[in-house]
Amino acid sequence: VLSPVIPELALLVSGTPGTLSLAQGMVGWGPPKAVAEAVAQAVRHAAAAATPGALGAGASLDRYGAVAGDPELLAAIAASFTEHHSLDLQASTLMATAGSNMAFHAIAQAICDSGSEVILPLPHYFNHVMAIQLAGGRPVTVDAGLIPDPGRLAAAITPRTRAIVTVSPNNPSGAVMPRPVLEAINALCAHHGLLHIADEAYALFVHGREPHWSPGSLPGSGAHTVTLQTLSKAYGMAGWRLGCMAAPRQLAEALAKVQDTVLICPPRLMQRAALAALRAGPAWCAPRIRALRHRRRQLLDAVALARQEGLPVRLLAEPDGAFYGLLAVEPGRWPGESRAAGPSGAAGHGLALMRRLVLEHRVATIAGECFGLEGGVGGLPVGGAALRISYGLLSASELEEALRRLFCGVRALLRQRSEQ
Ligand SMILES: Cc1ncc(COP(=O)(O)O)c(C=O)c1O
Repeated sequence: VLSPVIPELALLVSGTPGTLSLAQGMVGWGPPKAVAEAVAQAVRHAAAAATPGALGAGASLDRYGAVAGDPELLAAIAASFTEHHSLDLQASTLMATAGSNMAFHAIAQAICDSGSEVILPLPHYFNHVMAIQLAGGRPVTVDAGLIPDPGRLAAAITPRTRAIVTVSPNNPSGAVMPRPVLEAINALCAHHGLLHIADEAYALFVHGREPHWSPGSLPGSGAHTVTLQTLSKAYGMAGWRLGCMAAPRQLAEALAKVQDTVLICPPRLMQRAALAALRAGPAWCAPRIRALRHRRRQLLDAVALARQEGLPVRLLAEPDGAFYGLLAVEPGRWPGESRAAGPSGAAGHGLALMRRLVLEHRVATIAGECFGLEGGVGGLPVGGAALRISYGLLSASELEEALRRLFCGVRALLRQRSEQ
């Protein structure tokens, strides 16, 4: 199973005091106030009702709950899916989980036998790779373009294929996939009897002209579409661990087996928190997400300035969604790269660059290799390096400084390279 580079990066950062992080996939805000109030109230009630054998809402928090989640939360998830994303849930089952990664894990366990294939367009999200491998399946990565060409995905389908995964808005590129592309992928899945797994962790994060669109909103698509969403990003609740999914009803029994085995039920206190967050809804998230546009502009301006100054850098995709940009740096041999082994064991330009930027310039990013991007793949020229830049967490002034360090660092390392 793939070893993610993130723990190694965290070690590097903790050993390099003062490092600014453009690496973390989180926002800088916390949950709605109503979440803390709902949790405090639930705890108070639980304490008041904590007499042996007592029944009632408070006491029930102390006990195991329904495997897929408490009915009140599932009703709120259904309302959120239908009202805000127009999902057709006629043929769907709903499940709350401890984060949407756990939902993806459950789906992978439910659909993969040994050797089953799941198609992941590049760049991929590393935890998807790991979940498929843990389930005994084989991730089939396909370089179909950052906005994937459905024809190239179709060419990768074999009798062992079980699903195609899309992530829109995308981690790590920030690209938002247009509706016709997602529609074509969804139709491909229906035609070949595959699942379309749509990871929509960043559904509310759109900053450009392309709106977010859920393939699960196509009438009748619920029978072959999985929609994954989470409170981690838009509601600033990454550490609270609450995600959810809509999946074809015929998978309900298998999904319940996985969840019952690993979690029994989603943590019930967190379910109360999630309910309060969903009641605050996208209207609460919207001004916070809008405020990120200024940070996105800072990133675009910094890249434009670096290019004006002659640095061979560019963003691989329009960063119109999520809070990421994928920076490409021109081909060449990076100092120290011979020591850099990628997740696949291969030397990686992005990994070498990522490590040196932390150690010598105190700025953290994530190498493209972690998302399957090596030179010659995903529009990155052979010998090029890619870095994921997250602008979600830092304040405007910290981001300014982090971007200054990043481009100073790239310039200094390029200079060293040309002097070698
Ligand atoms: C595409 C994608 N899916 C899922 C997750 C994880 O979400 P959760 O915190 O709900 O497990 C992330 C986190 O970075 C992500 O980028």
